[in-house]
Amino acid sequence: MTEDAARIEGLLRAMTLEEKVGQLTMIRADFDAAGSTLLAPKLADIAAGRAGSVLDLRGASAILPGQKAAVENSRLKIPLLFTLDVLHGYRTIFPVPLGEAAAFDPDLWTRTARAAAVEAAADGIALTYAPMLDVARDPRWGRIVESAGEDPFVTARFAEAKVKGFQTDDLARSDAVAATAKHFAGYAAVNAGREYASADFSQRTLEEVYLPPFAASVNAGVAAIMPAFIELAGVPLTAHRALLTGVLRERFGFDGVLISDFFAVAELIRHGVAADAAEAAALALDAGVDIDMASGTYTEGLPEALARGLVRIETIDAAVRRVLALKLALGLFEKPYARGEGALAPATIEAHRALAREAARQSVVLLQNNGALPLPAQTSRLAVIGPLADAPGEMLGPWRAAGEASETVSFLAGVETAFPQATVIHANGGDIPAALEAARASDAVLLFLGETANMSGEANSRARPVIPEAQRALAEAVFSLGKPVIVTLTSGRPLVAPWLFEKAHAVLAAWFLGSEAGNALGDILSGAAAPGGKLPLSWPFDAGQIPVYYGERPTGRPANPENHDTSKYLDVPNTPQFPFGQGLTYTRFDYTEPRASVATLRPGEILTVEVDIANIGDVAGEEIVYLFIRDPLASVTRPLLELKAFTRIKALPGERVTARFHLTTDAFSFPDAAGKPRLESGEIEILTGPGAAPSLLKRCRVHILTNE
Ligand code: BGC
Repeated sequence: MTEDAARIEGLLRAMTLEEKVGQLTMIRADFDAAGSTLLAPKLADIAAGRAGSVLDLRGASAILPGQKAAVENSRLKIPLLFTLDVLHGYRTIFPVPLGEAAAFDPDLWTRTARAAAVEAAADGIALTYAPMLDVARDPRWGRIVESAGEDPFVTARFAEAKVKGFQTDDLARSDAVAATAKHFAGYAAVNAGREYASADFSQRTLEEVYLPPFAASVNAGVAAIMPAFIELAGVPLTAHRALLTGVLRERFGFDGVLISDFFAVAELIRHGVAADAAEAAALALDAGVDIDMASGTYTEGLPEALARGLVRIETIDAAVRRVLALKLALGLFEKPYARGEGALAPATIEAHRALAREAARQSVVLLQNNGALPLPAQTSRLAVIGPLADAPGEMLGPWRAAGEASETVSFLAGVETAFPQATVIHANGGDIPAALEAARASDAVLLFLGETANMSGEANSRARPVIPEAQRALAEAVFSLGKPVIVTLTSGRPLVAPWLFEKAHAVLAAWFLGSEAGNALGDILSGAAAPGGKLPLSWPFDAGQIPVYYGERPTGRPANPENHDTSKYLDVPNTPQFPFGQGLTYTRFDYTEPRASVATLRPGEILTVEVDIANIGDVAGEEIVYLFIRDPLASVTRPLLELKAFTRIKALPGERVTARFHLTTDAFSFPDAAGKPRLESGEIEILTGPGAAPSLLKRCRVHILTNE
């Protein structure tokens, strides 16, 4: 037995039932005028061993008394685990995940998570509720902003990068933070995009779309996983033994901690599968949920469930073991105060701000541009118009942790810095005549439209993901002047706005860019930097198309304008406004056909695919290159396109570079009904190019030869 295991067994032997249940109980911080705190009753619970972890307590000085109550006043001196939602930055706020996903840069994803962890840990936090790994294809669902978009392959890479960034390879480091992969699984598939509604999808979709990112997070060593609030085909995820224990623990080998979502254990009663706290607690614990977040149901129900024979003490012990193992791994027993002790050096904060600016530039997607961008250096009068122009707080998005509006650079401030010689005329757009006056007096109009932070995120589903009506009236009035209009869209989702894309000279998707929003945008508008992102999801043309995504499966009647009885709409096109991978920059690239290293590939062999990309514009640039596959004939239908690799390349004007991809035969297998990978003989198309629009892709073929 290892030293840690012996220590855990020793503690278990010493613990009363109340203390065991305490380790499985997460309490929430109290709140007063000064912020989060722990009031006397909760400190007493901690000292009595009735709480093992805390949610939402923020700030080292708020955390210290709680940790002291546990480590100095409780009988067994087991340290507390302090947890918070640190999704995309702690004090320095980085772009929201959907924005950062647009950078298609795992190294960047890791670096921002690392910076966030350093800041959060310095303030006492030991566990974050990130990364969010819900593959999301419905922009009505507000939490799409927290996702890495529509693609399981991208989300899996995002998972690995984020876990590495938060945790490092040694959780005991005082600047490491345990990651929580969430929300397991299929939360984004809620009915009609409505928050907390139920989901019901096939086993195949589960295997191909929703599980791979979680499998990747487990392989990367994620410390914790959170089941989704919702039910899937009749079983709430919080009580889903087949998925939590069967898939996560037994199939994926996950040995970390499962933490319920907020109040989700108690909500099993509302779901209609538990009659009371004892039944709810028993269902969740038996399914595999170790920690009850905030609902108090384990405290209330587990002793009773044990008395009624609904759970076994061995199941409680197993959960306690996992919680204690996490605390040991985090170094909390040895150094309970290490996180929260060291103030960050100003140079560290400065480096994080520079990183936030870089990440924001790489997250911005230039959706269209008729040449209006970058703005000419001689631009002397700029109108900055719209409700999101001078709205620093909105730039932080829906999960802002310790981010402050006062430390955030607005678009207006960024434009003023980037164009020091220009006269900048600002109008917030509430008064349309005043906005038009500003526009008339300018050479170009910068229009800042979109969503405020509270229009996306949790519980912010929108049946109509559009630009608010008043903003549309403003925009139409500005367009009518005939000036060059450059629109920057702030949002947590793609916004359906065909009318806007018809008239704007250039449109930038800026998501919620974080602390350095204005500076990053200034860099892009002036041409000091180029927009670096591409869409990590399809941008619908009409809300009625939702869900629209590139990985659809074939139909027996593909759309054909000449044939009525084919798969299409009478009133809108099938294609989105912009495809997955859409994103222009300040130069253009030309792609050759891909070249495969071999014509035939056998199991275990490696295929190398090369594609040459030439910068055919006038400035240096970066390009995101995609490799998709298509399996045209298999024992089950395969998606029309599947992403298997992506990379970023850089090229000088006139330069031609080669992107190289290495694929194992795993890339060509697909899950059978039990989730087991199956590789079939036959031809595979390899398609490379700048995005998922079929017209942009060039192809080659390889033949897979198995022994079957
Ligand atoms: C959300 C989770 C979050 C938790 C704790 C819940 O409402 O669904 O994503 O981690 O609250 O704040």
